[in-house]
Amino acid sequence: MKTLVTGGAGFIGSHLVDRLVADGHETWVVDDLSTGREDNLRQALDGGLAHLVPLDITSPDLLALATDVSPDVILHLAAQMDVRKSVADPLHDTKTNVVGTVNVLTAAVQSDTRKVVFASSGGTVYGEPESLPVREDAPLRPTSPYGAAVLDSSRLTTATGWTARMPLEDGLAATVTWIATTQAEAAGACR
Ligand SMILES: NC(=O)c1ccc[n+]([C@@H]2O[C@H](COP(=O)([O-])OP(=O)(O)OC[C@H]3O[C@@H](n4cnc5c(N)ncnc54)[C@H](O)[C@@H]3O)[C@@H](O)[C@H]2O)c1
Repeated sequence: MKTLVTGGAGFIGSHLVDRLVADGHETWVVDDLSTGREDNLRQALDGGLAHLVPLDITSPDLLALATDVSPDVILHLAAQMDVRKSVADPLHDTKTNVVGTVNVLTAAVQSDTRKVVFASSGGTVYGEPESLPVREDAPLRPTSPYGAAVLDSSRLTTATGWTARMPLEDGLAATVTWIATTQAEAAGACR
């Protein structure tokens, strides 16, 4: 299978790429290396099945890349995920997280990708929960631009899955995974 992982040079993404490559999937990593590092991918790149494309997910070049590669699955993990930065610069946060997600989804539809998986954040979309543990059906009340952008991106992902399916019954499938915490065994989070 051909996969494209955005944010694949980051903390969770690089573990995911290691797993995809170990399972024999050729993988293209799209990452602007703003917080991620090529070194995180050293083993995967050396193995020859992973390819690093230094690119901003908001770039129009993403559409050409996706069309060239024609991935079966896109796993979307690229994000500005610093809550404090999102408060200080909500425009940048929204551009990366919301506009970037729309660009990724557009690339998926245009390249006939069959499935998109979006890494959402269970820790931010609920805001300040009224009780613990937080139930999945708890009210969604993000308290930061980052949390709001993640929630918007989650909804855009599923909405695009539905609209892209309209002309063709078995069109794009979209999945949103609600990652709850991280320090949590990164490899486990990716299974
Ligand atoms: N780490 C957590 O606690 C946690 C919890 C819930 C959800 N998530 C989500 O999981 C995903 C990965 O998180 P992580 O902890 O690995 O973060 P990370 O910062 O290590 O990885 C994000 C990656 O995205 C890249 N990136 C940022 N902006 C980009 C852009 N405009 N274009 C291309 N690449 C860009 C960065 O260089 C980095 O490699 C994020 O979407 C995050 O919101 C993380």
